Amino acid sequence: DWNSGNVIAEQVARIREQIGTGRVLSALSGGVDSAVSTALVHEAVGDQLVAVFIDHGLLRKGEREQVENDYVASTGVRLITVDARETFLTALAGVSDPEQKRKIIGREFIRAFEKVQQELLAEAEAEGDPIRFLVQGTLYPDVVESGGGAGTANIKSHHNVGGLPEDLQFELVEPLRTLFKDEVRAIGRELGLPAEIVGRQPFPGPGLGIRIVGEVTADRLEILRDADAIAREELTRAGLDGEIWQCPVVLLADVRSVGVQGDGRTYGHPIVLRPVSSEDAMTADWTRLPYDVLSKISNRITNEVREVNRVVLDVTSKPPGTIEWE
Ligand code: XMP
Repeated sequence: DWNSGNVIAEQVARIREQIGTGRVLSALSGGVDSAVSTALVHEAVGDQLVAVFIDHGLLRKGEREQVENDYVASTGVRLITVDARETFLTALAGVSDPEQKRKIIGREFIRAFEKVQQELLAEAEAEGDPIRFLVQGTLYPDVVESGGGAGTANIKSHHNVGGLPEDLQFELVEPLRTLFKDEVRAIGRELGLPAEIVGRQPFPGPGLGIRIVGEVTADRLEILRDADAIAREELTRAGLDGEIWQCPVVLLADVRSVGVQGDGRTYGHPIVLRPVSSEDAMTADWTRLPYDVLSKISNRITNEVREVNRVVLDVTSKPPGTIEWE
């Protein structure tokens, strides 16, 4: 019989046994998986854990603040933030191919993370207490879709925060490896994490970088961030967060269409809304959102976000579509 209290007790005992008196590092993404796995490990070993948050500039509005303020306040975890926004933008310049973007973001993430690792390793070794463990928020569906299960095809190169460095000098701690998303949320609530983080819909490791169809630039990120914030605000206001699994907002940066606003012709970019209902992200259906909510989102985005003159709705199930566009 599944019960979040039991799972926590079981995992805490298992984590303590694995880690002993060792030190452990964790990468926080702002998402629910890394938040819960980190909180579980913190619950188990307290200050033996240091959390690292890399701001790659591909986050949504307010996410960095949520981690730095709310999450830290509720867990008491020691957090180090790295501002890597310029590095990621430079590495992504001129790249449009989705798999290439994913690889670059994954690579840069590991680089940024390893840089902090080295600093923390030096500090820990000076104190005679080396860091030997790395927390990963890997879920069961990630294991299956990344080809971790026997005979499964690799559909997209999934990148998880803290993705494996090639010369791995750490033992992994993966307390969510057998769990589905709803189970992870129940555990987060039980651990007392902020509702905005626990209730947060899934967000991919490569972030907004794979929601811009075309090259990722600072300007395009700003457009997408604004449109995404409006969509999320209106969905929350309409009380629909519990009904949808997630709603990627995608900027078709390489597409322009003609529009009219006031007396003038516009030639702007479309924004795609991709609301989906799902149990575990393995399959999904498009969510039948109320027309008045869609209309509100569309009006606000086209009025408030410069360069966007059209909002379209993705009505594809998974399969054949994936949830993300890239
Ligand atoms: P797809 O697009 O494959 O997405 O249908 C399935 C679920 O996984 C999320 N997703 C990712 N999550 N790293 C992650 O941690 C990734 O690289 C990644 N790519 C997709 C996606 O948001 C959806 O919930």
